[in-house]
Formats: sequence, structure tokens, C-alpha cells
Amino acid sequence: MDFVLCVCLLQLLFLRSSPVAALQPTPPPARALDAKLQEYAYRALVRPRTGIVYNATVPGNLTGVSVSALRLRSGSLRRKGLSQYFHFGLPTGVIAQPRVERMVLVFHNLGNWSQHYYPPPPGYTYLSPVLGLLAYDAVNLSAVGLPELNIVASGSPILVHFSNVRAAPAGGPAPRCVWFDLDGVPQFRDQEASNVCATYRQGHFSIVVNSSEVAPAPLPPGAIAPPIPAAGGRTKGGSQAWKVAVGVVGGAIALGLLSSALLCLVRHKRAKKLEVMERNSEVGETLRMAQVGRAQAPVALWTRTKPVIESEYAA
Ligand SMILES: *[C@@H]1O[C@H](CO)[C@@H](O)[C@H](O)[C@H]1NC(C)=O
Ligand SMILES: *[C@@H]1O[C@H](CO)[C@@H](O)[C@H](O)[C@H]1NC(C)=O
Ligand SMILES: *[C@@H]1O[C@H](CO)[C@@H](O)[C@H](O)[C@H]1NC(C)=O
Ligand SMILES: *[C@@H]1O[C@H](CO)[C@@H](O)[C@H](O)[C@H]1NC(C)=O
Ligand SMILES: *[C@@H]1O[C@H](CO)[C@@H](O)[C@H](O)[C@H]1NC(C)=O
Repeated sequence: MDFVLCVCLLQLLFLRSSPVAALQPTPPPARALDAKLQEYAYRALVRPRTGIVYNATVPGNLTGVSVSALRLRSGSLRRKGLSQYFHFGLPTGVIAQPRVERMVLVFHNLGNWSQHYYPPPPGYTYLSPVLGLLAYDAVNLSAVGLPELNIVASGSPILVHFSNVRAAPAGGPAPRCVWFDLDGVPQFRDQEASNVCATYRQGHFSIVVNSSEVAPAPLPPGAIAPPIPAAGGRTKGGSQAWKVAVGVVGGAIALGLLSSALLCLVRHKRAKKLEVMERNSEVGETLRMAQVGRAQAPVALWTRTKPVIESEYAA
């Protein structure tokens, strides 16, 4: 009967988890921005010459963001690299998957919009605007909503040389590199050299410092906005916070249910084992003996096997 309850709990758990999962596919604003910037970058490529940088025009509501595009042959990029494309230096051995004849490298400098689209990871402050490098297939220059190619530095890494980096507080922790992959997941890495970050993949990059060490002074003009979001950004931040809250509560409920289900299963198994043991002892079988410290001690079966049960159902 206990077992039936366990099954019910587990079913409830999985039913519960589906609406939570359904919240996920909404594209975050940063991905929507990537798509828009791809479009603006491609618009700048009118009868483009290979290897020439074209600056895109962005609409007024994105003033402060700069976007450029460069079309090149994939084979040439792999063999020769690209020593300087704005802040990025691409070594030889950068390959694109799937293989395409020509690709477009789109450069982003998010300027004062950096914090808006890429809120700094908790506890960190940007010392530089967020810079992006994304690769697309160049086969159709009128294409919109293109998926990114997957570019990988197969030899030495791509280097990002930051300029106009705010000074980190003296004596504080060293500034670090942060890389946001296409899903917006931040990863940290030590700087390769002063104001230089290394990466093997595309995405968005900046330099951060532990903000507990940074006085909340406003940024110099031309740098990025102070941590307090602009009035326009507030509503988005609010709904974002709300989503997080829903996620946390949902997660807690799911965790609670999972724990009760596991506990329930473990109890059920224990009861079963005890029953078996009782039956065995009635038949006269002795309990298993095991070395406990220096002494031989009887060991109840269920205590030995408990971890197995847990991992079996947690897997
Ligand atoms: C493109 O923009 C960069 C700054 O983002 C500037 O240095 C460069 O001169 C511009 N190139 C052209 C062709 O306008
Ligand atoms: C900016 O304005 C354009 C229309 O000019 C609109 O399509 C786009 O969604 C707006 N972008 C943002 C980020 O608000
Ligand atoms: C960035 O600066 C431009 C003016 O240079 C301004 O129009 C825009 O609103 C600013 N963006 C943010 C997020 O503050
Ligand atoms: C920042 O530094 C403080 C003290 O040095 C430390 O307690 C805190 O964990 C650090 N925060 C992060 C996000 O590394
Ligand atoms: C290029 O992309 C545009 C927009 O998605 C589409 O209308 C057009 O048919 C495409 N051209 C080719 C040759 O695939």
C-alpha cells in the first residue's frame, strides 16, 4: 500500500515538473538581441567584399550598441586566422561547424546596454562593456533569424583584447574574464594577460571584478551604465525576478516531493527487508557478521544496502 503512495507521489512530481519546464523556451532578451543584430549586420553587407569590415546601422532605440560584419572564406580563416577583428584576434585553426564555404563574423559592442542584456553575475561588476563575436553562414545575405554556426578554436585560443578597462581597486582580487555562451551561461576564467581574455568558443565577453571590493562610483562617460537599471529596464528586471521566484518556489516544491517520494521508497524497501529478515531469523539463519573496528558485529541487511536504494531511485 505504501508503494502505491510512492508511485502517486512520483507521478505528481513529474506532472508538476512539466509546467516548470514549459517556462524555459521563452528566448531571453539577449538571444532576441543576437537575432536583431544579425539582421542589422547582414543589411550592411550589400555586395560585400571578402575581408572588409562593414559597420551596421542600429535603430535609435539601440543607440550605444555597435555592430559590424565581416564576410570571409571558412578555409582561409582556418589556414590564416584573422589577426585583428576589432578586439578579437583569431589564430589559425578556427573551424566552423557545420562546414560552410563562407561565413560572416558579427562583432557586437554592447556599450552602455551591456548590463541590460547581460546582467553581471551576482557579486561581480563589469570593468568593460560586453563584446560579442558570433559566426553565421554567409550563403544568404538576406537571411533573418539565422542560427549561429558553431566555431571552435582547434589550436590556440581566440584572444579578446579589451580597451578602456576601468581600473580594479588596488590590493583587491584580480579582475577576471567572464564568458557568456549562447545560452547566456556565465563562465569565469583568469585573464591571459592584462586586459586580455582567451576563449575557444564564440559568445559574449567582458572583464569583471568582485563587486564587494568596488566602490559603487558611477562609470566614466562612454563606459557602461551604473548597476541600477534604467527606468526602461526596470519592468523587464521585475518580470525576470518574478520568473526566478516562480522557479525557486517550483523547484522547492519539486524537491520536497522528490524527497518524500525517495523517503517513502526507502521506507518501503526497509519494511520489505525487515520482513525478509524476520522471516529468515525465524528459520534460524544468523545475521551476517562484519568487521566493525576490531569487533565482529551483526549487520542488518537494510543498513548495508540503503545507499544502493537511494542512488537507484535518485538516478
Ligand atoms: C566602424 O566602426 C568603428 C568603431 O566601432 C570605427 O572605428 C570604424 O572606423 C568604422 N568603420 C567604418 C568603415 O565606418
Ligand atoms: C527598436 O525599434 C525597432 C523599430 O524601429 C523595433 O523593431 C525593435 O523591436 C526595437 N528594439 C528594441 C530592443 O526595443
Ligand atoms: C545608452 O546611451 C544612449 C546615448 O548615447 C542612450 O540613448 C541610451 O538610452 C543609453 N542606454 C541605456 C541602457 O542607458
Ligand atoms: C568577493 O570577495 C569577498 C571577500 O573577499 C568574498 O567573501 C566573496 O565571496 C567574493 N564574492 C565572489 C562572488 O567571489
Ligand atoms: C534568403 O533569406 C530570405 C529571408 O529569410 C528568404 O526570403 C530568401 O528566399 C532566401 N534566399 C535563398 C536563396 O535561400
